Amino acid sequence: MTLLELKNVSVSYGRIEAIHDMSFAVDEGEIVSLIGANGAGKSTTMKTISGLLNPRSGSITFDGEDITKMKAHIRVVKGISQAPEGRGVFPGMTVLENLDMGTFGLKDRSGVKAGFDRVFSLFPRLAERKSQVGGTMSGGEQQMLAIGRALMAQPRLLLLDEPSMGLAPQFIRQIFSIITEINQQGTTILLVEQNANQALTRANRGFVLETGSITHSGTGKELLANPAIKEAYLGVG
Ligand SMILES: Nc1ncnc2c1ncn2[C@@H]1O[C@H](COP(=O)(O)OP(=O)(O)OP(=O)(O)O)[C@@H](O)[C@H]1O
Ligand SMILES: [Mg+2]
Repeated sequence: MTLLELKNVSVSYGRIEAIHDMSFAVDEGEIVSLIGANGAGKSTTMKTISGLLNPRSGSITFDGEDITKMKAHIRVVKGISQAPEGRGVFPGMTVLENLDMGTFGLKDRSGVKAGFDRVFSLFPRLAERKSQVGGTMSGGEQQMLAIGRALMAQPRLLLLDEPSMGLAPQFIRQIFSIITEINQQGTTILLVEQNANQALTRANRGFVLETGSITHSGTGKELLANPAIKEAYLGVG
């Protein structure tokens, strides 16, 4: 079943078009990876899906409903949750308070306890640091907190914008294996990554974005085997 669909979406910042006529779909249960160079439009795409930016043209459908003009906070209630690039944890709030901020859209408060249980079992480090303030946590811990906060909303679609950014190799492996685990628990994931190798290895399907347009698409395996993608994104000529 198609969960998310973008049709002919274009997004501009003033007169500069950052996304041009983009169309793609994400099926329920998938991990789909979006890869591309700096400035290609990956974060713009994510913000357009979460509703922080509005497309100039085109449409976005989620679970069969047209959400093109829907406000961002309503999209959270509908099941779209984003862990933004650069983490965005609230520095003066504790781990518990940061996580609780993710639950504002829940109609049923009984889901909150289940959310905390899920997040603490995925990220035991957060369970050990419940009353530490976000601003004093390490980069990797803040990344865990940002993903945890997004999960507290019990999303059907989780948008992850560069979750491995700035992490040590050991942490990168851990974050990718947790992403797979979150997906296996039933959450559909759209993943933006510079770490194309890991992102495509973990993904069912992927798209390559170049200056605002999709230039390649395929299964993770197909894209990993594509010589042009190898040369440009996988660091092997
Ligand atoms: N608020 C803004 N105002 C003007 N231009 C912007 C704005 N945000 C992004 N852009 C431009 O839009 C283009 C796409 O940016 P975007 O952040 O989507 O890229 P990205 O693929 O996420 O890059 P990175 O890998 O560096 O995070 C870039 O040329 C960028 O300079
Ligand atoms: Mg970005």
